[in-house]
Amino acid sequence: MELYCYQAAGAPALSAIPDLPLPRLPLPRLPRPDACPERFLLRREGGRAVFCPSDPRQLTAPRESVGFLSSDSLGEIPALPEGLLRRIDDRALQAVNIAHPRWEDALSFQPLGQGRKRLHLLAVGDVGGTLLTALKLLGSDVIGSIGICDVNQAAVERWCTEMGQIAWPWDYGALPEVEPVDGDRLFDCDVFLFAAARAVPPVGAGGDVRMAQLAANRPLAEHYARLAREKRFPGLFLVMSDPVDPLCRAAYLAANRDETGAFDGRGLLPEQIRGLGLGVMNARAAYFAKRDPRYAAFLTEGRSFGPHGQGLVIADSIVHYNDALSRELTAEVLSANLRIRELGFKPYVAPAVSSGAMQLLLLLRGSWHCASLPLGDVYFGCRSRLTPLGSETEILPLPPQLLARLQASEAHLRAIL
Ligand SMILES: NC(=O)c1ccc[n+]([C@@H]2O[C@H](COP(=O)([O-])OP(=O)(O)OC[C@H]3O[C@@H](n4cnc5c(N)ncnc54)[C@H](O)[C@@H]3O)[C@@H](O)[C@H]2O)c1
Repeated sequence: MELYCYQAAGAPALSAIPDLPLPRLPLPRLPRPDACPERFLLRREGGRAVFCPSDPRQLTAPRESVGFLSSDSLGEIPALPEGLLRRIDDRALQAVNIAHPRWEDALSFQPLGQGRKRLHLLAVGDVGGTLLTALKLLGSDVIGSIGICDVNQAAVERWCTEMGQIAWPWDYGALPEVEPVDGDRLFDCDVFLFAAARAVPPVGAGGDVRMAQLAANRPLAEHYARLAREKRFPGLFLVMSDPVDPLCRAAYLAANRDETGAFDGRGLLPEQIRGLGLGVMNARAAYFAKRDPRYAAFLTEGRSFGPHGQGLVIADSIVHYNDALSRELTAEVLSANLRIRELGFKPYVAPAVSSGAMQLLLLLRGSWHCASLPLGDVYFGCRSRLTPLGSETEILPLPPQLLARLQASEAHLRAIL
């Protein structure tokens, strides 16, 4: 494959595109990895503006899709110089989609490092309050302080007071402080977490309690996404409210429309938005795997993919995948929340901790975690991590039956929004 070298946003970058409107540089001696530029420019519709590729075919694929998660689905490996391939193997390459109107800004979107973060949590209902408790106890290595906001002022006061009264004896500064934050300062933070809901179906309600919330929560998520655009919010915009993955997409679309309603791509970057819903599904799969020996492989070889709800894909094993068993386990996980509801309680404790607090902390630590990120035109749950060069998604040789399930889930999400 013919390559060219350009000066892109102050640094040399390779590309397979011959005619970019950027200053040309002489092509370096590419067999040497240390001579190979750190950036690779590509041009395609949709998907992340910047990411850290885990396979060379992610540079040449015509579009981003769930195929990025499966090394058996991406076709021929392109003939690329050794130095470039080595950089991909070392996860030391940054792919930049110059079709994104804000690709230069995307280069400076770097949620890792630069000290402990300021987190703003919108809504301290059952999920928000439990998540807050877990973050207060577990998050002091990456979270400096937390601001909370809710339409219910009594709830804000209650949670600030309760959190203010949690302290290790004689070490009173060890845990992040929690304080109220008002609407105008909501985006003066590094991480914004959306856990507000207009109406969670009550205990006893039938049907899909997650999708039932789309009509009510969508305008709310869109409102805050537009606010983030107005404030030119440079941080992470995390979504916990249901339905998590369609709400991420709704927030992305709302944040990227101009005053006339036309999509301009000048608001939140696709990768600024993440959905926190897969963590509890993964933890529930482990719960069933500990109790039923048929699912035991999940504990060492299992994976979870897709949305927090219908379309979820649990794989019992990525080494010896059993399709029937995996579908059974998926069905158990999907209805696990209903068992808590049958007992007369709203299921929010495990979700707040496993989907919310734990994945958020892993994300900020640069560790592998379960969350939804943009893959093409859907927000899709998978195993990923943040690197200094962008997000990296795990790529595995997935069996065809499993890949077909991921593709069906992708189509399901695309049909919603
Ligand atoms: N991601 C997951 O794993 C997961 C799991 C379970 C539940 N959830 C979802 O999390 C969401 C929250 O659930 P919950 O049990 O905490 O609900 P809740 O009803 O207990 O709390 C909702 C909170 O949102 C606040 N709120 C409502 N409108 C608001 C607005 N306009 N601005 C600010 N705050 C507003 C309310 O005052 C309340 O405090 C729901 O959508 C629920 O389905 C997600």
